[in-house]
Amino acid sequence: MANTYDLSGKCALVTGGAKGIGRATVERFVASGANVWVWDQLEVRAEQVQSEVVDVTQPDEIARALERTFPGKRIDIVVNDAGYLSVANAFESHARKDWQRIVAVNLLGTMQVTQAVLPRLIRDGGGRIINLGSLAGKEGVPGLAVYSAASGGVIAFTKALSREVIGQNILVNCIAPGPIDTDMIRGLGPDVVEKMIADSPMKRLGTAEEVAELAAWLASDAGRLNAGAVFDMSGGRARY
Ligand SMILES: NC(=O)c1ccc[n+]([C@@H]2O[C@H](COP(=O)([O-])OP(=O)(O)OC[C@H]3O[C@@H](n4cnc5c(N)ncnc54)[C@H](O)[C@@H]3O)[C@@H](O)[C@H]2O)c1
Repeated sequence: MANTYDLSGKCALVTGGAKGIGRATVERFVASGANVWVWDQLEVRAEQVQSEVVDVTQPDEIARALERTFPGKRIDIVVNDAGYLSVANAFESHARKDWQRIVAVNLLGTMQVTQAVLPRLIRDGGGRIINLGSLAGKEGVPGLAVYSAASGGVIAFTKALSREVIGQNILVNCIAPGPIDTDMIRGLGPDVVEKMIADSPMKRLGTAEEVAELAAWLASDAGRLNAGAVFDMSGGRARY
């Protein structure tokens, strides 16, 4: 595939970069010339990638990782990708510990990482923040009520934060994919996946690489007019 986005000389942090969309984003950024760091709860072994084991629900781990990863160094791009979906649950019987983890990883984790890196971005004159929300956060998906709410929170956080920091040359955007073929979606089971494919106007799941292409565009100079935007990647499923 042609490499159309130039990220050479840029330093990127990708949370959740061990697997799925995060991993594809890491590979796309490396191919585009970026120096990439991954923070994930899983250890990452990949060429040209440096990584730290970090749980984004733990502010102390984030603070320590920031010092180890970027002591005094510039951060140009932050992708908040770390996510947890669980399985489909009727909300009335969804165990509290599990749904609190969904909020802790997807919404609070995004906020915690962002709050930790923002002073660096402001100090160094700007940067790009790309948050992974979900189409579920716009439409609401039965059985995924808490995940939908956390994604809706990521979307609103993106829009509000964008307006706060745009004057400091920090561009904050959100990608809100429909079903993408990763372990997260496969974990819902074959029946749910088949229904998602049947509901898709394109009759397929998206690929992690397709989402990574959008992330690379948003991170590159080509994406410079975008701020506070939410980009659906749903194969035509999104209605607004
Ligand atoms: N796959 C989809 O259909 C889809 C659709 C919409 C949005 N998303 C969002 O995209 C992002 C990536 O999803 P994916 O499908 O690639 O998922 P995935 O399960 O394949 O990968 C998620 C990654 O996040 C990491 N992670 C989970 N909890 C963490 C924590 N507490 N601290 C650090 N790392 C943690 C995992 O180790 C893993 O590497 C998520 O935010 C998800 O909500 C995915």
